[in-house]
Amino acid sequence: MSSPSPLLTPTGYAFGADRAHEHSRLARQALLSDPVTEELLREAGLERGMHVVDLGSGAGDSAFVVAKLVSPTGSVLGVESSAEAVCVARERAEAAGLRNVRFLHADIGDLDVHQFPFEAHSRSRLVP
Ligand SMILES: C[S@@+](CC[C@H](N)C(=O)[O-])C[C@H]1O[C@@H](n2cnc3c(N)ncnc32)[C@H](O)[C@@H]1O
Repeated sequence: MSSPSPLLTPTGYAFGADRAHEHSRLARQALLSDPVTEELLREAGLERGMHVVDLGSGAGDSAFVVAKLVSPTGSVLGVESSAEAVCVARERAEAAGLRNVRFLHADIGDLDVHQFPFEAHSRSRLVP
């Protein structure tokens, strides 16, 4: 049997070996893709007041786009398997004064999404 790629984390996330680098990469990518992401989410029907779960929320970039779309009355719950990414996302949300975003440290495979009263879920750039 072949040995696992050094790029894979224990959860199998392809870009997760160097988390600090990955968070910086995602933030830089978000600068370019946020306007398109926002437009796609809007076309998909996301709007003010919705409660949304963002699967594989990373350092928070996609959740922050959703938070902007659903604010001020809607909310976002980001679900992310990397504890480090969850910490970074929480710090960034706090620094940005975003009060309608929360982050949960969990594997989406272990999550029963039906237990949450959400109207939509997003899965931006979720790479296994
Ligand atoms: C390419 S990043 C995208 C992050 C964010 N959605 C964005 O657009 O900036 C994908 C994220 O999904 C997370 N992920 C991958 N598999 C996961 C799983 N099974 N459960 C929870 N998170 C997962 C990774 O740890 C990584 O942070």
